[in-house]
Amino acid sequence: MLQTAHPVLRRFWYPLMPVSRLEAGPQPFTLLNTELVVWRGADGSLGAIRDRCCHRSAKLSRGYVEGNCITCAYHGWSYAADGQVMCIPQAAPEQQGKPTGLSIESYHVAERYGHVWVALEDPLSPIPEMPEAADAGMRRLDQFCEVWQCASLRVMENSFDTSHIAFTHRHSFGDITDVVQEALHFEETAQGFDVAERSHRAMNRTGAVAALRVEGEMTHRSQTAQWFMPFSRRLAIRYPSGLRCTFFTGATPIDDKTCMLVQFCFRSDTEEEVSFEAATAYDRIIVDEDRNILESMEYDVPLVPTREEEIAMRSDRPGLTIRRRLRELLAAHGETESRLRTVVPIAVSA
Ligand code: FES
Ligand code: CO
Repeated sequence: MLQTAHPVLRRFWYPLMPVSRLEAGPQPFTLLNTELVVWRGADGSLGAIRDRCCHRSAKLSRGYVEGNCITCAYHGWSYAADGQVMCIPQAAPEQQGKPTGLSIESYHVAERYGHVWVALEDPLSPIPEMPEAADAGMRRLDQFCEVWQCASLRVMENSFDTSHIAFTHRHSFGDITDVVQEALHFEETAQGFDVAERSHRAMNRTGAVAALRVEGEMTHRSQTAQWFMPFSRRLAIRYPSGLRCTFFTGATPIDDKTCMLVQFCFRSDTEEEVSFEAATAYDRIIVDEDRNILESMEYDVPLVPTREEEIAMRSDRPGLTIRRRLRELLAAHGETESRLRTVVPIAVSA
């Protein structure tokens, strides 16, 4: 599936960046090949419009905020959050203060969990629910917002692929002798699916003791996770010590080959117990292990792979469900999967 080829994917909310980045002024972002600019107006509201001035095509993200508008740095045309051109400084005196009748594309924008969220067209479902955000006993840590050279779908499948942990994470929390992790519960929902798992993890290595305050070589952890169609995940982990860590991971699609990995988490401990730096240093090791593999994979993920493309196994169930649900989503909106023309066969028939 080429993620930019499907208009229906424009109808979901995606996290772009922590809102703190807007303190430096308007910020550009490419979402599904659409270049947009986001900014915060004087009254605190957010705007998201096309990152192209309709005068001579300068990028509005090179501009500046005036009141609630964004002003082009080339000749000073200014735009409201609904995309309307509000002011053309060079217009004739009798035109000043009158509607220009000009506008460019604007997008749905929201602030949630300290992040900017955008939907390019009317969203089909709400921003994923993170109940921890309302839990006074949990703090939020904005961990990562970085470009990965892989398809969003690969990140999502990986997020629910428990059988990679033994291998990909063999130097951190994986155990190569403990390969099969069975899900306790798997249930499809309107927005995706829920899974629950109880697992043992090697926890005596690389910062886990400092980050999670675990003791002993192995620990059991209970976790539940939700997939929110198409590219968001909530993962809630409870450790025997009582520590609760809930992660949000979004693989926001930039183009077909690239996504913005946005991860923040909520933790039930305090900054004094485990600092942001210590917690994030440990999670950095883990996401880099994933990233190393994910960036090596084909970006045109087949929703229905031929045997020459990919061969599935039992533990691929969540990923296969994601692919089926995406197929159903496309079908419900009159779309069929878009693929690269040439696919290089990688498997030989037995
Ligand atoms: Fe933006 Fe001229 S290009 S005002
Ligand atoms: Co992983």
